[in-house]
Amino acid sequence: MKTVAILISGQGSNMASLVHACREERWPARIAAVIANRPQAPGLALARGLDVPVEVVSHAEHPGREAFDAALAARLEALGADLVLLAGFMRILTEGFVRRFAGRLVNIHPSLLPAFPGLDTHARALDAGVRLHGATVHLVTPTLDHGPILAQAAVPVLDGDDAATLAARVLAVEHRIFPMAVRWLLEDRVRVVAGRAEVDGVSADERLLWAGAR
Ligand code: GAR
Repeated sequence: MKTVAILISGQGSNMASLVHACREERWPARIAAVIANRPQAPGLALARGLDVPVEVVSHAEHPGREAFDAALAARLEALGADLVLLAGFMRILTEGFVRRFAGRLVNIHPSLLPAFPGLDTHARALDAGVRLHGATVHLVTPTLDHGPILAQAAVPVLDGDDAATLAARVLAVEHRIFPMAVRWLLEDRVRVVAGRAEVDGVSADERLLWAGAR
């Protein structure tokens, strides 16, 4: 049985999809806590409603990145977290934190990385005129929105899309690939070879979700 912590900053829909999958698919895991860096994150109420313990480690109450990351790391170590899932966690983590949790830190990012790291991915995808957009689940390295890719989901960009409609289409597939990839990690099927993730028993094809039906 592995211990999982989920970090959020906002609405927490990815967190909820992880909690549901953990229960419905009977993962060999215990979700020890949902931790938000903002006390007003709406996802905290959602987590409480799902009967998951919640905590706040407020970045505003720490003098800087190092102090916040030290407090967060202390809580995660106290919980005994084997996996730390960044589910809409909007803080850049220090290199020291990332190295300390290397191999157990997983992020979901709303673009087909390496395209559009950073913020406002949907608006930037529209501005760039791409026809294909999506989301990526990856192990975290000290470089922002970078690291061995576990799974990706691709969606079309449709005529008339704005950032909100595109975000909603991407979010729906995020809810499918994040639990899928976390399960591979819990089952110890992921190896990193020369900076790329390999997943035992899972083909490259299965690691891409194409949600192109119109
Ligand atoms: C998701 O789209 C997630 O990919 C993104 O924030 C949203 C959170 O939604 N994460 C990032 O942009 C991380 N850099 P949620 O709170 O409903 O899961």
